[in-house]
Amino acid sequence: MAQVSLRKIVKAYEGGVQAVKGIDLEIDDHEFVVLVGPSGCGKSTTLRMIAGLEEITGGDIAIGGTIVNDIPPRDRDIAMVFQNYALYPHMSVYENMAFGLTLRKFPKAEIDTRVKAAAEILDITPLLDRKPKALSGGQRQRVAMGRAIVRNPKVFLFDEPLSNLDAKLRVQMRTEIKKVHQRVKTTTIYVTHDQVEAMTLADRVVVMNHGIIEQVGPPQELYHSPATKFVAGFIGSPAMNFIPARLEQASGALVLALPDGIRLNVPEARSARYAAHAGREVLFGIRPEHLTDDKPTDKANPAPLTLTPEVIEPMGMETLAHFRLDGAEISARLDPATPAEVGVPLRLIAHMDQMHLIDPTTDKVL
Ligand SMILES: Nc1ncnc2c1ncn2[C@@H]1O[C@H](COP(=O)(O)OP(=O)(O)OP(=O)(O)O)[C@@H](O)[C@H]1O
Ligand SMILES: [Mg+2]
Repeated sequence: MAQVSLRKIVKAYEGGVQAVKGIDLEIDDHEFVVLVGPSGCGKSTTLRMIAGLEEITGGDIAIGGTIVNDIPPRDRDIAMVFQNYALYPHMSVYENMAFGLTLRKFPKAEIDTRVKAAAEILDITPLLDRKPKALSGGQRQRVAMGRAIVRNPKVFLFDEPLSNLDAKLRVQMRTEIKKVHQRVKTTTIYVTHDQVEAMTLADRVVVMNHGIIEQVGPPQELYHSPATKFVAGFIGSPAMNFIPARLEQASGALVLALPDGIRLNVPEARSARYAAHAGREVLFGIRPEHLTDDKPTDKANPAPLTLTPEVIEPMGMETLAHFRLDGAEISARLDPATPAEVGVPLRLIAHMDQMHLIDPTTDKVL
């Protein structure tokens, strides 16, 4: 087990694509870190550089305190699980899991102990004699993880390991992966483009965009205190609403002036933080879950506003409503018993304790 350090890592592919533009990241021993971001942002490239499968153009990678820039993949003591975890079809589950150790000439008894222990952790002991074709997708995925676990590596690397599974199985396997990590505690770096997977699995989430790191933090911190508009919009589903507004000073208090004459009081607790931006154009960010029906609330600083629903989507446990305000699309999460109707103005409450303000010129959260 080990820490992993990335220092000023750059990757330029031939043809001039800069896939990774100088990232710094310190991953602790036993930590589960998830790299998340949109397609093409450099997640797989970063992971493959840690694995040694891709040369680095600049910077240093250290595993367990040793710089591994020039160490070949097989000597880095890492195990990788890919999206296409090809199992050997002619080998049993046992043989598939044992294969890497056999190649490395481990004694038979040691291999047997490790394979059986991993099978136990993954709950696949009864399947050890089966061939891959006689397994379900989720069971195959477990075998692929088993191959990594038996190696007892310093670091696990996962690249979208669940993306071939159907939605229900993904959620199940997500929980399995978390359980496995709680038991074996191996330092893990996991790549996904799915923010829900990132939030549910990670000790810390690394949000990447265009080859840079936008923000690193525990899931709740990214959700409550995003640093940039990108992170604010990427984490959370449905995504945060962004509404163009003007921050105004009105008789000692700050007020947000939205389109259509809507005015929302800014909580006093935010006055000091925002005072310097009074008089400026800003983006008002509010999550759909903080825009609710007009009902009594125990939360401080509720601000009323009236919007007219364009679309209403009952989801069972909640109802989503979509609005438009001067071009901005806005969604709200309403009570399933909401009286909301398409085309009928609806009084909502914005929970201003949960508001964000974004500088539209820098996209930084103020
Ligand atoms: N071998 C290569 N040669 C040239 N460019 C490449 C190569 N591999 C990746 N790239 C480019 O580098 C960038 C980052 O690719 P990468 O595979 O790391 O993205 P990703 O974040 O894993 O995306 P996805 O979610 O689609 O898997 C992309 O613009 C991609 O086109
Ligand atoms: Mg990828």
